[in-house]
Amino acid sequence: MSINVPRGTRDFLPDETEKWQVIEELIRDTCRLFQYKEIRTPVFEHTELFTRGVGDTTDIVQKEMYTFTDRGDRSLTLRPEGTASVVRSFVENKLFGLPDQPVKLYYIGPMFRYERQQAGRYRQFIQFGIEAIGSNNPAIDAEVMALAMSVYKKAGLKKIKLVINSLGDTESRQSHRDALIAHFAPHIHEFCSDCQNRLEKNPLRILDCKVDRDNPLMDTAPKLPDYLNDESATYFAKVKHYLGVLGLSYEVDPNLVRGLDYYNHTAFEIMSEGEGFGAISTLAGGGRYNGLVENLGGPVSPGIGFAMSIERLFLALEAEGQKFTNIDTLDMYVVSMGEAAKDKAISFVSQLRESNITAEMDYLDRKVKAQMKSADRLNAKYVIVIGDTELETGMVMLKNLSNGSQIEMSFEDIISKFDELKLSWQEELA
Ligand code: HAM
Repeated sequence: MSINVPRGTRDFLPDETEKWQVIEELIRDTCRLFQYKEIRTPVFEHTELFTRGVGDTTDIVQKEMYTFTDRGDRSLTLRPEGTASVVRSFVENKLFGLPDQPVKLYYIGPMFRYERQQAGRYRQFIQFGIEAIGSNNPAIDAEVMALAMSVYKKAGLKKIKLVINSLGDTESRQSHRDALIAHFAPHIHEFCSDCQNRLEKNPLRILDCKVDRDNPLMDTAPKLPDYLNDESATYFAKVKHYLGVLGLSYEVDPNLVRGLDYYNHTAFEIMSEGEGFGAISTLAGGGRYNGLVENLGGPVSPGIGFAMSIERLFLALEAEGQKFTNIDTLDMYVVSMGEAAKDKAISFVSQLRESNITAEMDYLDRKVKAQMKSADRLNAKYVIVIGDTELETGMVMLKNLSNGSQIEMSFEDIISKFDELKLSWQEELA
């Protein structure tokens, strides 16, 4: 019996990984432009990091973590998200001591959540995220959102919208919390057992319950923006001001609360409005998490960030009908006839590669015609055929497969003049 991938995970075969590499490069370039530097943290962490960081009443911690005990009897968890790990590392490596604050970091890597599999929701997915830690300035909130939007726009997405809200500071959240308890308490018996537990512990989490989402009390629940104190309202106004300065349009959604406990003040999501994107329209989510660094043992260091899954970015591109074309990278296919020619092909392919020219050859001892077909299928720009004559004279026909033109050259000249050749043929084609 054959063995398949675990539910909620996928293989990415070369056709797909090529596209991923294009997107990853775009992401890395964008981060470079915005001056975010890459951080790589372990794929598993102490479970306590997430119970304390993400919050023990969240769906992520209660229902979705891959937690296991290792042979040393420690409870470890495959990371369900990146922020808690980055903040742990920020504290552990004392990055708060760096002269340049905020510390601007990004990551790309697999995250794990035990969720019901559907389009856009996987048990292993790749998140790209950024975290700017060490500034409480609303301008950095706007920068973080601008970076996310920039990645989507450069990838070619047009139908996306930025949705924002403010969760306010601790005082504002406390008044909102009291109002939520008063709102839900008389009817809490109509809600699921998780929500009943959440009522006193963390009533905000009732609002993102997947089971009770259609209960009419959800719509009439007290809205955060009505409970913002002056300081929080001023902060939110400034965030909106800087979004305006950056020319970014947005919608305010007073119901946006996000599903992780560390958020306060700014919360945002980027949604796809592409037709046919399916039920899950959130492409990215993020927000401010002042207090998380202290909660994980560090000094006062306010932070903000976001994360997006690259899978959902591809789904959104598909929904908008965007296609990746022209990811051909093969410069030359070397065809050979006979044993002596094969030796030459092996050494010439190796020389080409050492000169940064991508090259391929046949490893099945097939006939010339079959080798030529491979060259076509692999989208080679050029092909040469080595036989006895070419070995004797040291000269070979270099054929341009896109326009059929040929030119006779020595093996050495092909390498030394390759850039020139490519350029002149490209001009001819243009
Ligand atoms: P999150 O909203 O839980 O936030 O996830 C962020 C993004 O990760 C989602 O918008 C979605 O693109 C992707 N995602 C989440 N779960 C899945 C899944 N099961 N399958 C596919 N994609 C998924 C966070 O993770 C926060 N750490 C974001 C953040 C960073 N906030 C501040 N800094």
